[in-house]
Amino acid sequence: MAESVRRFFSIQWRILPPIIIALVLYIPIVSGSFFKPFNVSYDHRALIIAGKRRMLVSAGIHYPRATPEMWSDLIEKSKEGGADVIQTYVFWNGHEPVKGQYNFEGRYDLVKFVKLIGSSGLYLHLRIGPYVCAEWNFGGFPVWLRDIPGVEFRTDNEPFKNEMQKFVTKIVDLMREAKLFCWQGGPIIMLQIENEYGDVEKSYGQKGKDYVKWAASMALGLGAGVPWVMCKQTDAPENIIDACNGYYCDGFKPNSQTKPVLWTEDWDGWYTKWGGSLPHRPAEDLAFAVARFYQRGGSFQNYYMYFGGTNFGRTSGGPFYITSYDYDAPLDEYGLRSEPKWGHLKDLHAAIKLCEPALVAADAPQYRKLGSNQEAHIYHGHGETGGKVCAAFLANIDEHKSAHVKFNGQSYTLAPWSVSILPDCRHVAFNTAKVGAQTSVKTVESARPRLGLLEHLNVTKDRSDYLWHKTRINVTEDDISFWKKNGANPTVSIDSMRDVLRVFVNKQLSGSVVGHWVKAVQPVSFVQGNNDLLLLTQTVGLQNYGAFLEKDGAGFRGKAKLTGFKNGDMDLSKSSWTYQVGLKGEAEKIYTVEHNEKAEWSTLETDVSPSMFMWYKTYFDTPDGTDPVVLDLESMGKGQAWVNGHHIGRYWNIISQKDGCEKACDYRGAYNSDKCTTNCGQPTQTRYHVPRSWLKPSSNLLVIFEETGGNPFKISVKTVTAGILCGQVSESHYPPLRKWSTPDYMNGTMSIGSVAPEVHLHCEDGHVISSIEFASYGTPRGSCHRFSIGKCHASNSISIVSEACKGRNSCFIEVSNTAFRSDPCSGILKTLAVMARCSSTQNTSDLGF
Ligand code: GAL
Repeated sequence: MAESVRRFFSIQWRILPPIIIALVLYIPIVSGSFFKPFNVSYDHRALIIAGKRRMLVSAGIHYPRATPEMWSDLIEKSKEGGADVIQTYVFWNGHEPVKGQYNFEGRYDLVKFVKLIGSSGLYLHLRIGPYVCAEWNFGGFPVWLRDIPGVEFRTDNEPFKNEMQKFVTKIVDLMREAKLFCWQGGPIIMLQIENEYGDVEKSYGQKGKDYVKWAASMALGLGAGVPWVMCKQTDAPENIIDACNGYYCDGFKPNSQTKPVLWTEDWDGWYTKWGGSLPHRPAEDLAFAVARFYQRGGSFQNYYMYFGGTNFGRTSGGPFYITSYDYDAPLDEYGLRSEPKWGHLKDLHAAIKLCEPALVAADAPQYRKLGSNQEAHIYHGHGETGGKVCAAFLANIDEHKSAHVKFNGQSYTLAPWSVSILPDCRHVAFNTAKVGAQTSVKTVESARPRLGLLEHLNVTKDRSDYLWHKTRINVTEDDISFWKKNGANPTVSIDSMRDVLRVFVNKQLSGSVVGHWVKAVQPVSFVQGNNDLLLLTQTVGLQNYGAFLEKDGAGFRGKAKLTGFKNGDMDLSKSSWTYQVGLKGEAEKIYTVEHNEKAEWSTLETDVSPSMFMWYKTYFDTPDGTDPVVLDLESMGKGQAWVNGHHIGRYWNIISQKDGCEKACDYRGAYNSDKCTTNCGQPTQTRYHVPRSWLKPSSNLLVIFEETGGNPFKISVKTVTAGILCGQVSESHYPPLRKWSTPDYMNGTMSIGSVAPEVHLHCEDGHVISSIEFASYGTPRGSCHRFSIGKCHASNSISIVSEACKGRNSCFIEVSNTAFRSDPCSGILKTLAVMARCSSTQNTSDLGF
């Protein structure tokens, strides 16, 4: 049993030569000045940028999880969403795939990414690590690092420290040469060394402590001229800021009173495992966590992730992390706004910005208890021009009940688990539990071992997921009659294995075992005489978290034996094995446009039954328009896919657990990644992103390597868009945040308290509102997709909304009697509910395998 190629096919065994990785060396060095050069320092309250304390919102985007063609749009959407800073890790194994050979091209063109950030006017927090965790293969370590004699990762170990220093220096030098630090006019305002080392430090004893000191002084010694952070590092040395990571970081205290309160990772969702359900963090809870952070003295908060993106190729970490890294982030895997999260956070950021003059003026907030579970933090002082400034945050941390509180002589109703933000200490600009932002519904359009057996990673060097181990087993007549008599089969028994093991006897699959360091027991049947026993071990993302990663390895651990023979067990480590790394098709690069004709493809008939270990290829046209393109691979089993030679990632049609998804998601109360999950009982991932920049208008080559057998005729190309928008805002909602910056408000001719709230609808770029499916100003019932008219309804609702919105990319509709020209039911609190459709390009095409 081995791979075959088909458009096309014949099943045959092949011995496959190891793969050779080709590397391109290119380090672009171009200077660029984006800002008037400025310095960054800090005090206990905040980062000080060009002499001013700042309250900063940061958006996590990992450049290799998108294509360079997507970067500008992601950065622009982060800026539009209210971010001041972009944050990224640096991915060592992407930049130095072979020791001493660097790659700064394509998705790894770090200089280009940083320049795009600079030219958008945003800052950058660059987390060099170089251990990054990040659900990234091997936590970002190049696998060759394991082969350095005597190496031990992340501890006081000379070989490791040498390599780490070399790489960190390389990155800092690269940034300096391209003039990308803020003091050179570039966007970089802060760096990071290591990553959450505090979690594993104890495992390394004194050497761990020494390593922290070394890493800090090594980093500082590079003269980068901006502050360095260590996250989750309570013993971070004096000149390094220790920062918080988590779902909530209000109340976090750095290890010195001279350091500001920074939140480097606000987990706004979570990652997904093959076979897992999909995590969702409600926008209300996320906004609550962020507001609480700034309320209680925080000054820098980064969304991990603002855009999660895709683990293209074999970059996903493990065990068993899926190809999508959507993360339930405000920008989805394809870069589309995920609503209402994106819009709700945009409003939150606008509210925080309005408070910034007061937040930076005060050294510490004034605290006022408002009730048993309610509290206020007030920031006041003098603004830049000397005038008085005041901002307040009123929190209700009760998980169930609303609270009515008095503050500065005014009454406020605070929803459960919410924070109200008062940029003038009087009017509510924002409440974390009241979502005024639109909801969007995404529509998908069919477009058409130390055993004698070698250790897996030592052999593959992670150039492929696959390692074949082959041996010959001689079976006697006595063995056969022994098994017949006892009605038993012999078994392959392996003490411990990861992630997938497939056992073949005489080219037939006997069975597969899936798990992470689990015992494997696989019954096999032999014939008399010589039998070929083939064990295929597979990795599905290398471990990216924990101590002693260099020892983790892959393949087998412990004893491997054949049990149930007449003369007892057979120790497989004593057998003579031959090995093969990877697939022949991988070695010959038959997934590329240049080399795919090397294989002898045959035409696939529609009635053939699914085959294992098969290569398939076809060509497809690109759907019109600009909507993100995905391949629907639900009809396939497990494997990998390439489009025009680009590795779009692993796929696996594995069903997530049936239970655990709640019917209704309650935003109230502390979030954890098991709360509010969706997709139970469904395949974990069926759609795989194919970035448009990898496509040409027609005849795109799709090559698939399928391990378990699937139906390629059912693969389809689709596009994703936000097809439906809904908005629901009541008369009592707070005024639109943008009104706080209008001249009328600024010069005192307008009272913010008298401004009516609005529904804001916004289609994706290149789309317009094509129809209003529902609109009711009155007392509409239900939620998006299920709205209905209530007792009170303004009969002109549809026409007023249509007039304001139809044919436009975005529109604002005031929620007031004035806008609807009369009061449909006086004395009753009215709401405007709207459901609109955005027009999108629709294309369907089934693939012509
Ligand atoms: C953190 C880590 C990140 C990422 C995150 C989970 O502990 O620093 O790199 O792995 O967890 O998404």
